[in-house]
Amino acid sequence: MSSALTRVAYAYDRLRAYPPEVAGRIATAMANALQVKGEEPLLLELGVGTGRIALPLIARGYPYLALDNNPAMLEVFRQKAAGVMRKVRLLEADARDIPLPGESVHGVIVVHLWHLLPDWPRALAEALRVLKPGGVLLEGWDRVEAEVEWRLQERWRALVEAEGFRVERGLHQRRLAEVEEALKRLGLKPKVRQVVAWREMRTPREALEALGERLYSFTQAVPEAVHQRVMPRLWAWAEGELGDLDRPFPVEKSFYLRASRLG
Ligand SMILES: C[S@@+](CC[C@H](N)C(=O)[O-])C[C@H]1O[C@@H](n2cnc3c(N)ncnc32)[C@H](O)[C@@H]1O
Repeated sequence: MSSALTRVAYAYDRLRAYPPEVAGRIATAMANALQVKGEEPLLLELGVGTGRIALPLIARGYPYLALDNNPAMLEVFRQKAAGVMRKVRLLEADARDIPLPGESVHGVIVVHLWHLLPDWPRALAEALRVLKPGGVLLEGWDRVEAEVEWRLQERWRALVEAEGFRVERGLHQRRLAEVEEALKRLGLKPKVRQVVAWREMRTPREALEALGERLYSFTQAVPEAVHQRVMPRLWAWAEGELGDLDRPFPVEKSFYLRASRLG
């Protein structure tokens, strides 16, 4: 596997990591939502990434099927999970074609995946197919509010658009609303709640590096040549506008969970 891909997977892992107490609160909320009686619940996560949702659940003893179509992400996940892999199976597969029989898992976890799939209804249908009757679809997402970071991202967008390339933002929230509508049309009753809110500190330099690595999905459709032309201009703009790139700014974060139980 290319070391560049693995490097990006590690960078992704660092950027998105939850503080331990936050990871624990999320795992508790998911475990509580499962409510499986008499059986050991088997969980499947679609688009498991580097395992920030999975690992605390695995540490609590849940058998876990960790599915992702990116081998670099799975490799980082495998390294992080070393030592607790006894009940874990890695599935390098597409969420739109899950290699499992119908009605085989108690919970399907989906965090930050739908917006990456233009044909998300296929993945949703697959998620519901593999759930046992009474099983739960657990969708999760982060909300992130940070004015400095927003300004940097919007400046990046303006520079890219000045190069003649349109950038779409806000897809993630729109897609969550579309999936919720689809679940309701199927007669399910999705229930949403905020699980935890916390504050982190980040420097403009870290935010610029994350943009440079294209760790945000809204950056990924932009041609590499355009991105390479724009990044030095963005660094120069940030230095002029923000001054000290190592002075941390607050990032307000929260995690939401939407649970839908099959009848
Ligand atoms: C934004 S990351 C989220 C990872 C993890 N759920 C989290 O919240 O940290 C999306 C993950 O979905 C994976 N992915 C994207 N398209 C996929 C597909 N069609 N099938 C399976 N996994 C996919 C990516 O490789 C990536 O690991």
